[in-house]
Amino acid sequence: MASETINVGVIGAGAIGSLHAENLMRRTMGATVVAVMDIKEAAANAVAAACDGARAYDDAGDLIADPDVDAVLIASTDRSHADFTLGCIEAGKPALCEKPLATTVADAERIVNAELAAGRRLAQVGFMREYDLAHRELYDLLHSGVIGESLKFRSVHINPQFSRELPIESVITNSLIHDIHSARWIMGEEISSVYTQWLPFDRARAQSARLAELQLVYKSGALGSLEYNGDSGYGYEVTVEVTGESGRLNTASHPSPSLRQAGALSRAITPNWPQRFAQAYIDEAQDWINALRRKEATGPSAWDGAMSLIVAEAAIRSAETGRPQPVGAIGKPSLY
Ligand SMILES: NC(=O)c1ccc[n+]([C@@H]2O[C@H](COP(=O)([O-])OP(=O)(O)OC[C@H]3O[C@@H](n4cnc5c(N)ncnc54)[C@H](O)[C@@H]3O)[C@@H](O)[C@H]2O)c1
Repeated sequence: MASETINVGVIGAGAIGSLHAENLMRRTMGATVVAVMDIKEAAANAVAAACDGARAYDDAGDLIADPDVDAVLIASTDRSHADFTLGCIEAGKPALCEKPLATTVADAERIVNAELAAGRRLAQVGFMREYDLAHRELYDLLHSGVIGESLKFRSVHINPQFSRELPIESVITNSLIHDIHSARWIMGEEISSVYTQWLPFDRARAQSARLAELQLVYKSGALGSLEYNGDSGYGYEVTVEVTGESGRLNTASHPSPSLRQAGALSRAITPNWPQRFAQAYIDEAQDWINALRRKEATGPSAWDGAMSLIVAEAAIRSAETGRPQPVGAIGKPSLY
C-alpha cells in the first residue's frame, strides 16, 4: 500500500456507490476516497466533489491503473462486476465488489482462477449481512450449539414497493443472491438442490416476479426456504430463522422501540435497505480497510461469490423447468 491510509477508488456512483463513498470518507478510520468513476459524468463529478476533491474518471481501467488508487470499491451495475474485479486482480489491487460477484458462474470462476494464479485473495464480495448485528448474533448462538443440529433455515426478504420490473432470473441473481449467501453462511454448509416457485405481478406484467420462493435441500438433508417479496407495500425487512433439534432461533427484525399509544402497541419498520443495513455497510467498509492495512483479506470471498451463483443458476433452471434442480459445486481451493 502507498501509505497508512488506504486510498480507495469507487466505480459506480449511484445509490450504493455514493453511500460507500460517504462511509469511506466520513465513517471509516484509515481510508479516503481519491477517485470516482461512472459512465454518467454528472454522477461521477457529484460524488467526487463530495469526497474532498477526489478525481472523477469516465473509464474504469484508468481509475484502476491510477497509481494513487490502492484499492477499488465496485458498485456499478451487476453485469460490469466481473470485468472490473478481474481488472483489479490483474493490477494486483484489492477490490470490494458489490453483489453479485458476476452474473454467471463462468465469470465467477474466472475470478476465482485469477486469484489462484495470483496466489492471493484480492476480491471481497459485498454480502454485508455478515456484518449485521442481528445476523451475527444468530450465527454465534447457532454455532455455539445451543439448538443442536440445524433442521431448517428460513429467510424472508421483504421490499417496500415495486420499483423496477425484474424477471425471475434477475430477482434471483440480484436480490435473492443475498439470501442464498446467508443460507450457506449461517448454516455453514452447502446446498444440494433447489426448487423455485414464483408469482408474476399481474397478467399484464407476466414476466416480472413479485413473489418468489426457493426451497432448498442441504447436503446434510436439512431443509431451507427463501422468500422474496418485491412489493410488500409497508417497508423493508430481512429476517432469518433456524429450527434446530432442541430449539429455534429468530433474528430480531425491528430494533426500534415499541410505542404504546391510543390503545395500540406499534414498532417502526425500516423503509428501505440503506436504513435497515446502515451500520452493516459501515462495519463492512471498516473491516475491509482494517484487513487491507494488515495486508490481509477478509469477509465473503470470490469463492463464496461463485458458490452463491452456482445455487442461483440452479434456481433459474428450476424456474425454467418447473422442477427441482441439483446444485453443483466447485471444490474449495486451500486459498479459501
Ligand atoms: N449490498 C447491498 O445491499 C446492495 C444494495 C444495493 C445495490 N447493490 C449492488 O450495487 C450495485 C449498484 O446498485 P445501485 O443500487 O447503486 O444502482 P444505481 O443504478 O443506483 O447505480 C449504479 C451506477 O452504476 C453506473 N454504471 C452502470 N454501468 C456502469 C459501468 N459499466 N461502469 C461504471 N459505472 C456504471 C450507473 O451510471 C449508476 O450511476 C448493483 O450491482 C447492486 O446489485 C448492493
